[in-house]
Amino acid sequence: MSLFTAYGSAALTLQNRIVMAPMTRARTTQPGNIPNDLMAQYYAQRATAGLIITEATQISDDSQGYSFTPGVYTEAQIDGWKKVTAAVHQAGGKIFNQIWHVGRVSHPIFQHGVAPIAPSAITPVGTKVWIVDEQHPEGQMVDCPKPREMTKADIDRVVADFANAGASAIAAGFDGIEIHAGNGYLIDQFLRTNSNHRTDAYGGSPEKRIRFYWTLLKR
Ligand SMILES: Cc1cc2nc3c(=O)[nH]c(=O)nc-3n(C[C@H](O)[C@H](O)[C@H](O)COP(=O)(O)O)c2cc1C
Repeated sequence: MSLFTAYGSAALTLQNRIVMAPMTRARTTQPGNIPNDLMAQYYAQRATAGLIITEATQISDDSQGYSFTPGVYTEAQIDGWKKVTAAVHQAGGKIFNQIWHVGRVSHPIFQHGVAPIAPSAITPVGTKVWIVDEQHPEGQMVDCPKPREMTKADIDRVVADFANAGASAIAAGFDGIEIHAGNGYLIDQFLRTNSNHRTDAYGGSPEKRIRFYWTLLKR
């Protein structure tokens, strides 16, 4: 078996075993963080990989942490992604959509002026996000402010947002989804003791810290 032999399972067949890692590109059309023709061209150019994982993609209005990253929860975003998936399929490739919620790795400009949400109200140390605003049209790296601790209602809503975004990605023509559970974003923030100081069912022991992720996987 080599890297260039096909891979097949009941759920998925790939032309080879090369997988392109997810990479944030920040090239959406504004306003609305909408995938566009440039993105379709970019992904189609890479369709000789067995599988492409897209850049991380927002599941909801409060899940964004960097300017110009795409979403997959509005009709316009889903229509934009349809161009991308059609172009990749036309070129013979397969493509999964990586969906994320950044949690505390965000900024009020993405949150209608209020604090981002996180498992606990703990400011990330040394983590910056890239924002473009009127004062800095060329973009700048800024600190993330102290987040607001999520209520149980927030948790239930974000779990539902992950489920809706996954369904929307499939409706947009993706061959599957990848849930971004690493790199210090929301799911990882629940998993780690430095960002999760909760004393309810979602914090404390490893079983409790993994409950948020487990709950959304079961949806
Ligand atoms: C510019 C850039 C953007 C990235 N964006 C994402 C992303 O959206 N989602 C993700 O899971 N990882 C992202 N990563 C991490 C990469 O997918 C990869 O895991 C990382 O570069 C380590 O891989 P390596 O050891 O092969 O370099 C990004 C990395 C880079 C350099």
